[in-house]
Amino acid sequence: MARTTHEALLEAGCHFGHLKRKWNPNMAPYIFMEKNGIHIIDLNKTMVKLDAASEALKQIAKSGKKILFVATKKQAKEVVANSVKNLNMPYVTERWPGGMLTNFATIRKAVKKMSSIDKMTSDGTFDNISKKEKLQISEVPEPTINENEVLVEIHATAVNLLDTLIKNGDFKLFLPYKTPFVNGHDLAGVIIKVGSKVTKFKVGDEVYARPSDYKIGTFAEYITVIENDLAYKPKNISMEETSSIPLVGLTSWQALVDIAKLKKGQKVFIQAGSGGVGTFAIQLAKHIGAYVATTTSTTNIELVKNLGADLVIDYKKEDFATILKDYDVVLHSNRDAKVLEDSFRILKQGGTLVSLTGPPTPEFAKEIGLAWYLQMLINLLSLSVRRKAKKLNVNFKFLFMRADGKQLSEITSLIEAGKIRPIIDKVFPFDQINEAMSYVETGRSKGKVVVKVK
Ligand SMILES: NC(=O)c1ccc[n+]([C@@H]2O[C@H](COP(=O)([O-])OP(=O)(O)OC[C@H]3O[C@@H](n4cnc5c(N)ncnc54)[C@H](OP(=O)(O)O)[C@@H]3O)[C@@H](O)[C@H]2O)c1
Repeated sequence: MARTTHEALLEAGCHFGHLKRKWNPNMAPYIFMEKNGIHIIDLNKTMVKLDAASEALKQIAKSGKKILFVATKKQAKEVVANSVKNLNMPYVTERWPGGMLTNFATIRKAVKKMSSIDKMTSDGTFDNISKKEKLQISEVPEPTINENEVLVEIHATAVNLLDTLIKNGDFKLFLPYKTPFVNGHDLAGVIIKVGSKVTKFKVGDEVYARPSDYKIGTFAEYITVIENDLAYKPKNISMEETSSIPLVGLTSWQALVDIAKLKKGQKVFIQAGSGGVGTFAIQLAKHIGAYVATTTSTTNIELVKNLGADLVIDYKKEDFATILKDYDVVLHSNRDAKVLEDSFRILKQGGTLVSLTGPPTPEFAKEIGLAWYLQMLINLLSLSVRRKAKKLNVNFKFLFMRADGKQLSEITSLIEAGKIRPIIDKVFPFDQINEAMSYVETGRSKGKVVVKVK
């Protein structure tokens, strides 16, 4: 059914309003406001007299907000370019097919495109969050520490898919980082300053961490870390090896120990055993005393066997759903809906599937304090999966791992006792961090990809 412009914009998540009539009552630009601060201007209403709106545009530019110009006419792009080129403002133009009877999909596409342009920086350049954008190396002032923080000189960091998701803006709903920011979630290094209320650490201590959300930034030479996020580096491994542990180690711990409460003698299915999480989780599950089944491709079978996996399924040749039965726990990390459904079926009644890839659950949305409407959205998104789990009488849990220095200390003990060892695929130099990220994005890494900083 055809929609009006207004209806389509509302459906695309835009707030609606004739904002700027007061600037020029006769040729008022038709301006809509989107909830993220994106202004949408329908050029059909204002095309000829865009200059009349330049005062309005200047105001918007000053506030660092964004403008999306939409128009049916081809020459709109030119008009926009001429009118706003001196304003140093982020904008995107998009043709839409239709006056008042407009095309919903086009608006949605345009809003999405617009969302990938973030705030203008003070020197007038734009910081994009986009799939094409590479990380850039730049000089930033040495961070200052709060009383409960330490300053760490980073020796090594590791790359995670989370870095890419955040760089691409795919995680904006949960973690709305504002550009420019320093990426990176794993570190190993040496403390060079301590805050006045820090009690557990001193200058010179060798430490490692997955810093808390909004305190990330390990693709750097220095970082401030909250004391509670830190643990002492295991003494028996190198800085590079140490940096490979925090995110995947904590993920495995929180999934298998905290949530699934995996016990000796139980059966656990760990998907993607040769990945960063898998290589750690297999060793942790074996240390707990569980029977471990895992999936990997032919080339990595020996690797996962050496880590202790009891049953290895070559996912390119075999289907785990026809082999596994009556499992207590599944550590799910695949993005294919069928794999999730099949994983429920291999659980015994009352078994638990911990998913690292979603869909996120209402409990998670509540836990991280999302706005009520986002909680409702997540409720809806996960409804059918939760229903399937309920029907089969199994538990479905979503984990988004968190920083935890205490748990990391437990992991230090396991590494020092030789129960768990780091598995490293490649070490990149610091100036090849983009190459390191691209390598991880292939989804083929065996264990972890590390970046040597010092
Ligand atoms: N929610 C959270 O807190 C959280 C935390 C950590 C990770 N994650 C997510 O969990 C997933 C795994 O993370 P990761 O760091 O372990 O990834 P990773 O290291 O990049 O995984 C790469 C490995 O996955 C294997 N693999 C790829 N497709 C597979 C398939 N269909 N079946 C079995 N193995 C397969 C590859 O082996 P082959 O080359 O042999 O195929 C490769 O060794 C990612 O999606 C990540 O974003 C989420």
